[in-house]
Amino acid sequence: MADIQPEAIRNPEVKFTQIFINNEFVNSASGKTFPTFNPTTGEKITDVQEGDKADVDIAVESAKAAFKPGSVWRRMDASRRGKLLWKLADLIERDISYLASLETLDNGKPFQGSVGDILFGINVIRYYAGWADKIQGKTIPVDGDYFCYTRHEPVGICGQIIPWNYPITMFCWKIAPALCAGNVIVVKPAEQTPLTALYLGSLFREAGFPTGVVSIVPGYGPTAGAAISEHPDINKVAFTGSTEIGKVIMAAAAGTNLKRTTLELGGKSPNVIFADSDLDIASAWAHEAVMTNMGQCCIAGSRTFVQEEIYDEFVKRSVEAAKKRSVGDPFDPNTKNGPQIDNEQLGKILELIQSGKDEGATCEIGGARHGDKGYFVEPTVFSNVTDNMRIAREEIFGPVQQLIKFKTLEEVLERANDTAYGLGAAIFTNDLNKALAFANGIKAGTVWVNCYLAVNAQAPFGGFKMSGLGREMGEYGLQQYIEVKNVVVKVPQKNS
Ligand code: NAI
Ligand code: MG
Repeated sequence: MADIQPEAIRNPEVKFTQIFINNEFVNSASGKTFPTFNPTTGEKITDVQEGDKADVDIAVESAKAAFKPGSVWRRMDASRRGKLLWKLADLIERDISYLASLETLDNGKPFQGSVGDILFGINVIRYYAGWADKIQGKTIPVDGDYFCYTRHEPVGICGQIIPWNYPITMFCWKIAPALCAGNVIVVKPAEQTPLTALYLGSLFREAGFPTGVVSIVPGYGPTAGAAISEHPDINKVAFTGSTEIGKVIMAAAAGTNLKRTTLELGGKSPNVIFADSDLDIASAWAHEAVMTNMGQCCIAGSRTFVQEEIYDEFVKRSVEAAKKRSVGDPFDPNTKNGPQIDNEQLGKILELIQSGKDEGATCEIGGARHGDKGYFVEPTVFSNVTDNMRIAREEIFGPVQQLIKFKTLEEVLERANDTAYGLGAAIFTNDLNKALAFANGIKAGTVWVNCYLAVNAQAPFGGFKMSGLGREMGEYGLQQYIEVKNVVVKVPQKNS
């Protein structure tokens, strides 16, 4: 895909603002709409049809029809499902300039970031397209005169609730494994960023997905989102977002039909820098780990542990990097950081920054809102951070780096694990023994050695502890969309 050169469109036309059900765009049952805003200016972009329980119910009915035994989707060759997904990826690639521009308009992330998100999403769709006709059970030599085999069947109707920080990427992570395994889906994009998801609805239709296989219902969490997690006929819910809402969703699943639940939640990921690492590499990654996507990243390396011998030098380098990080118009190719998603997130970040100052950390650079229009935050670096400060414990989801001092591997491992979260972790060292001891001892779903943010379609992603439940991507992610059925056949013993 190196030959793709997407070009930004500053004012992309918004083509779809309705709910996508039965391969059609329709108004909400209630007639209500909700606004979506441009975080760069704080101005409204457009109004979108507001989905609620009634619309989720209609979507579920259409999904049920699509999933009936004997339906087009159920009878479709698995290889054909793969081709449909591949076609979808081709259409996304065709429209990448438009989609990336729309994402930047609605989300505020720099255009190159939107392009990167989409390329990653395309990779994930193509990866799972290849899986469609390779999902197979086993024959098992059980005791007794039986022929025993397993069927790997789709779970059924899957509700998928998407966050606003990586709208297209998270959309692709959810839909691709579900569809390749033959499920049907009802997707709810985040209320802050509904626009690209709705455009993708039109691409499912163009690719030729049968009616009812995919519904996209924009709306708010406590209404449309809750209608999904509480629905008695939805067999599985997949969610990415806050740990707080992850608990709500799991409780809703437990309180209704015990729908299968996968959760990808928050983090406070440790990034441990040893004095024996390559400092140029380590400081550049440590900066990117926490500043990327304006810090609105579940795997943000938001606790940077730095070994005491290099601490002062590392502070200097981190401040230099933050100083150089350009903040502003996300359509400007020189911009590294656009705005935060909304006023609520801006407020949360500024409040946590204030708590850091109040609790005695040193704000080396930044620490304030940038400009007075839109939701920008200055790239911020705190030194002299200690483990019990709120900025060292809570997910900030903003461009705020915490530099924490440590002495030994044993000590830092214990401190790194002293958190309710367990999503990502990284170590920078040139000592293989230290790296392996850290990789074994840390409680996190992904461990990076001398790198960060490397996330791939082929490999599992997810959290230990309160960072989540289950895995996405790779073969592990596929398993979350499959029910295993054991079939036991009595074999007559006449001839053997
Ligand atoms: P959130 O968890 O409330 O929203 C994520 C998604 O869940 C959205 O689609 C939302 O509409 C939906 N939702 C909200 N309440 C729901 C409910 N009761 N039932 C079903 N669905 C519901 O996250 P929010 O409020 O946007 O951000 C709060 C914090 O969460 C952030 O500051 C950040 O710390 C964290 N977060 C983490 C993300 C991640 O990638 N793990 C993504 C977004 C937020
Ligand atoms: Mg919320």
